[in-house]
Amino acid sequence: MIRINAPQIGKEEIEAVTKVLESGILTTGLGKGPYVTKFEKSFADFVQAKYSIAVNSGTAALHAALMAVGVKNGDEVLLPSFTFTATAETVILCSARPVFVDIDPETYCMDVSQIEKYVNERTKAIIPVDLYGFPADLQPLREIADKHGIAIVEDAAQAHGALYKGKPVGFYADVACWSFYASKNMTTGEGGMVTTNNEEIADKVQSIRTHGEKEKYMSVRLGHNYRMPEIEAAIGLVQLKKLPKFLEKRRKNAKILTEKLEGIKGLKLPFETEEKKHSWYLYTVRLENVTRNKRDQIVRELKENNIEAAVYYHTPIHTMPFYRKFCNYKLPETEKASEQVLSLPIHPGVSLDQISYIAEKFISLI
Ligand SMILES: Cc1ncc(COP(=O)(O)O)c(C=O)c1O
Repeated sequence: MIRINAPQIGKEEIEAVTKVLESGILTTGLGKGPYVTKFEKSFADFVQAKYSIAVNSGTAALHAALMAVGVKNGDEVLLPSFTFTATAETVILCSARPVFVDIDPETYCMDVSQIEKYVNERTKAIIPVDLYGFPADLQPLREIADKHGIAIVEDAAQAHGALYKGKPVGFYADVACWSFYASKNMTTGEGGMVTTNNEEIADKVQSIRTHGEKEKYMSVRLGHNYRMPEIEAAIGLVQLKKLPKFLEKRRKNAKILTEKLEGIKGLKLPFETEEKKHSWYLYTVRLENVTRNKRDQIVRELKENNIEAAVYYHTPIHTMPFYRKFCNYKLPETEKASEQVLSLPIHPGVSLDQISYIAEKFISLI
């Protein structure tokens, strides 16, 4: 099976893990062990941020970041519904209300032109999601956020390597959140990172990740155990070094797949612009004239042919059983996209022969 995404692990990661195990230091009380500290510094350099705080998942990163910008009971947070559940879940974990905004059907990211109709005195933050690894409209969002005094907590969980106006995504946000889940462009198994240029936010996230402590057994705020273990950080350091190569291969696979699929009527392909460079986490196409059933049938048939196509996301969050109560209006573009998109494998383990096979099979099925 050509998997939709697969961790790229070599002997370097295995050696790094062994070293940590032999060192006897698996974690530290305040979450600042030697590997974690080194990984934080390297990741901050990679995304050109001043501060970087390692945590144990992308979900933890979002929760800690939202807490750090002060999201609390009674607040509202604007976010897309066309994203992974964690984006909305962490808002509710802060006892705030998620307010879902429709997407731009071209980019699948939040439609900036719709944001201001939802802004009111309770609006505390916006969470743009760089969906599939394609940057959201980050500068216009910054302007809206500044006009209304709202924080931007960017969900960059899928966007390692994505650029917006020549800068790594996260640059226009108050704080950006990354995931190192096993499927991501780089992985630590589970893991996450918070990056920011704001010292106060960085300080708060640091203490939130370890029970609100600044020093041991002296909590100054509500926190959690969001510490990243040393083994994960050691894997992360190796993966970060390999990331440029991973990104290059993803980009190459995407380019060739696009060349093979271009020009088919009713098939919309992912793209880049001068200003927005993809991380190519997911190569997502859209079948513009098909029903949900037909799309699902194509996905099933691809799987029967050993191609693990997948749908991100077949159920928008605002229509999920738990989340329905937070949204009493429709999001037409989100709902339509959820019926028509599907993603094809382009991860670094996919060979050029496999890309040809994927294109051929896909064309024969649509
Ligand atoms: C858009 C988005 N947000 C948040 C997360 C949560 O990250 P994690 O799985 O590391 O908790 C993920 C990844 O799974 C994601 O894709």
